[in-house]
Amino acid sequence: MCGIVGYVGDSKSLEVLMGGLRRLEYRGYDSAGIAVIDDDGALNTAKQAGKLAMLSGELDAHPINNGSTGIGHTRWATHGAPNNENAHPHLGDNGRLALIHNGIIENFSPLKDELLAEGFTFESETDSEVAAVLLGREYQRTGDLAAAFRAVVERLDGAFTLLAVHQDQPGVVVGARRNSPLVIGLGDGENFLGSDVAAFVEYTRRAVAIGQDQIVTITPDAVVVTDFAGNAVETEEFDIAWDASASEKGGWSSFMAKEVSEQPDAVANTLRGRISDGVVVVPELTEFGDEVLAGIRRIVIIACGTAAYAGQTAKYAIEKWAQIPVDVELSHEFRYRDPVLSDDTLVISISQSGETMDTLMAVKYAREAGAKAISICNTQGATIPRESDAVVYTHAGPEVAVASTKAFVAQIAALYLFALHLARVRGTLDAAGLAEQTAELLAIPDKIATVLEQGDTVRQLATWMSDTRAVLFLGRHVGFPIALEGALKLKELAYIHAEGFAAGELKHGPIALIEPGQPVFVVVPSPRGSAHLHPKVVSNIQEIRARGARVIAIAEQGDAAVLPFADTVIHIPLAAPLFEPLLAVVPLQLFAMELSVAKGLDVDQPRNLAKSVTVE
Ligand code: G6P
Repeated sequence: MCGIVGYVGDSKSLEVLMGGLRRLEYRGYDSAGIAVIDDDGALNTAKQAGKLAMLSGELDAHPINNGSTGIGHTRWATHGAPNNENAHPHLGDNGRLALIHNGIIENFSPLKDELLAEGFTFESETDSEVAAVLLGREYQRTGDLAAAFRAVVERLDGAFTLLAVHQDQPGVVVGARRNSPLVIGLGDGENFLGSDVAAFVEYTRRAVAIGQDQIVTITPDAVVVTDFAGNAVETEEFDIAWDASASEKGGWSSFMAKEVSEQPDAVANTLRGRISDGVVVVPELTEFGDEVLAGIRRIVIIACGTAAYAGQTAKYAIEKWAQIPVDVELSHEFRYRDPVLSDDTLVISISQSGETMDTLMAVKYAREAGAKAISICNTQGATIPRESDAVVYTHAGPEVAVASTKAFVAQIAALYLFALHLARVRGTLDAAGLAEQTAELLAIPDKIATVLEQGDTVRQLATWMSDTRAVLFLGRHVGFPIALEGALKLKELAYIHAEGFAAGELKHGPIALIEPGQPVFVVVPSPRGSAHLHPKVVSNIQEIRARGARVIAIAEQGDAAVLPFADTVIHIPLAAPLFEPLLAVVPLQLFAMELSVAKGLDVDQPRNLAKSVTVE
């Protein structure tokens, strides 16, 4: 939701900014823009509606002077259409200052009125330009960017990361953050700012996270962080675990194709270091406190999108293994309905980016209400882990494609680790039970690799179905959240109307949607592990088949009962019932991806979406 990059160093800021924007483009791609102070001290800007390629084209057609100081922005539109005028950077101080913004300035309207009354004029409809003009006014008063920022942030309500440069201060980039992300990259004779570490990982793997309500000034040789009042604050450096190549396509046709294929590693890496001698011991949870965990009476999982379906899947495992009630809530619904929380409630947030504003606000609310908060997150240095009591990182590696795939299976793996750790601490599973489930978990990476081998079958299916207008997904028990995720993937990637239903709910309404030729994916429970549910789902298949549905079954290898009733069967390896979601989701991801490709769509950057949604 808007990507931000800033640079000071030698004279290559244009390359750094464009490279950073390329890596941050998943955050928004409605427009892109840059501002560079060239070596003669002049401020040059370029901005263009559309994806970053449009800005590159503009820079080829009308080159600007390179220089040692610059900022860059890729936009996901909130206030104002995605056109050239509303693209960032915005200018202040008679065009001598450039500013970029991620977030929403909620009180921009009265501020704009105030500035208009003073005779200032505006070029755009954005809330962001108000901050640029305000900063310009304060710069004229103070003659110093950091001082001007301190005055401006006091006036702003809402969420923001702001970066600015002024042509009278070459070699200086100043940033401020409240509730939107910003990370510092530490170089040698150069320093960086970015919405996340992907912005500068090509140049440095040393990073510093900036806390809430802080202002940072970077120069080539120094980094100064203060609070909004100007008092110095302590910061903590961390090493970035990814290298630059991890966030490149590496020969794949799309980031999504690469990330889907990386799922065996995403799970294996998430398990690594957390299972010893067949026993799950998650060091981060031990540090959080096994006694505290033993005292928890209720768990609330909060997340959005795909992460929420990972939570819904894990609910079954946590309740079964650790015997503790689990509610799963969408973060934005949880936060504003006065949920009942107490100090024996554990709130688990799940977020790939660690920046989803709805989830961040829900975590803050829960902690203020006395609950403990653990975060499951894939991005180091992100805000949600910093606002939580503990974090269990998924180690899926950078996920660049906007729709989430490998992070989903890594999230389920991390939640299953949590569930087994909790079951051990609470004594709800004996040693044999723990060992059995842990062995199942360890076997998952190889089984996902086996499912991935069926890519050709799914591709063929997608090609046949490229004209399809609506697809239904059915699942039962842990297959239900997988049906929901299958439908979400298809909406996101192929823009096809898709709905997921609990198979048991079919007869209560959705069966009315079935007409001849209607494609229905059915996630079939194992006939061995779910002997009581399997025949019920097979009956559901017969019910829809009788009404003309075209059935695509995701079924366990050797499940003969579905064969007579399904038009297509995609087989998954044998696994205990709670582990089937980690396998069954893979063909559904592949199907959505292949259908998107068959329709000629941009599978990595679907229309209207952003990967990291940092506005409420
Ligand atoms: C956006 C993305 C989804 C993602 C959701 C939650 O909507 O497009 O793919 O599942 O945000 O993101 P998070 O970073 O919190 O997991």
